[in-house]
Amino acid sequence: MIGVMPETLPPPGIDVTKPNIARVYDYWLGGKDNFAADRKLAEQLLALDPGMRDLVRGNRQFLCAASARAARQGGISQFLDLGAGLPVSPAVHDAARDVIPDARFIYVDDDPVAVLHTEALLSGTTGLESIRADLTDPDAVLTDPVTTSALDVDQPVGIILGSVGHFLPATRMRELTGAYLSRVKAGSWLIISVGRAEDDDPEQNLKPAYTAAQTYRHSPEDFASFFAGTDIVPPGLAAARAWVAGVTEQVPSAGLFMHCGAGIKR
Ligand SMILES: C[S@@+](CC[C@H](N)C(=O)[O-])C[C@H]1O[C@@H](n2cnc3c(N)ncnc32)[C@H](O)[C@@H]1O
Repeated sequence: MIGVMPETLPPPGIDVTKPNIARVYDYWLGGKDNFAADRKLAEQLLALDPGMRDLVRGNRQFLCAASARAARQGGISQFLDLGAGLPVSPAVHDAARDVIPDARFIYVDDDPVAVLHTEALLSGTTGLESIRADLTDPDAVLTDPVTTSALDVDQPVGIILGSVGHFLPATRMRELTGAYLSRVKAGSWLIISVGRAEDDDPEQNLKPAYTAAQTYRHSPEDFASFFAGTDIVPPGLAAARAWVAGVTEQVPSAGLFMHCGAGIKR
């Protein structure tokens, strides 16, 4: 049919009749790895909060910009992406590989569907790995055979926690960033974004359609504390697009935004 793009074929073994939040993200990001059920939920969520699409796009821009900067400025050639979702549209590894073409990535997610889909997308690639693990268990992530064979522990690592920290209480996030940082070399980069709102409404808006996970609102002080033991790189802790543009500005006083930052382990 003229003018209609064919639907991407689902990877074998994946049930695409049930929506999956990683693929909902892919749809908002403008990707092709999503299916009718995902698009339906994505549109329902957009009806409740039209800003979601822009929010996730800004977030992915930040993750790509920060990873490219870690590669360029810090020579980081290996990344651990915790709570990765689908590595597409645009993929964070592509941004780092524009700087260091053989940069290695280990994508970590605990959602079996996202992991299966990621494995299918990455099959046949070199230096891009996917594991199913709970990021709140650093031992499980770091002793996974895929991680131990792909990561060079004598070299700094880029640790990415993109749009996932709001699923954990601040105390747990602090413990976790401390635990991961304690296991990597000085010079490693910590790249974090969390969804935040100064007012309550955006989260409440989404609850009727998407109640998959409990979320936490981290104060600016809590967010800064996740970077303990690092030197935060300019422009500091900022909303996604401000970070990418390199400007410091007041974070929005209403509505959801992504609070973003990167730090280098001392
Ligand atoms: C909102 S998506 C973010 C995707 C991507 N990092 C980004 O920022 O575009 C959050 C992802 O984190 C994963 N996730 C949530 N809790 C996790 C956990 N405890 N361990 C591993 N992955 C987790 C979810 O399955 C989901 O794919």
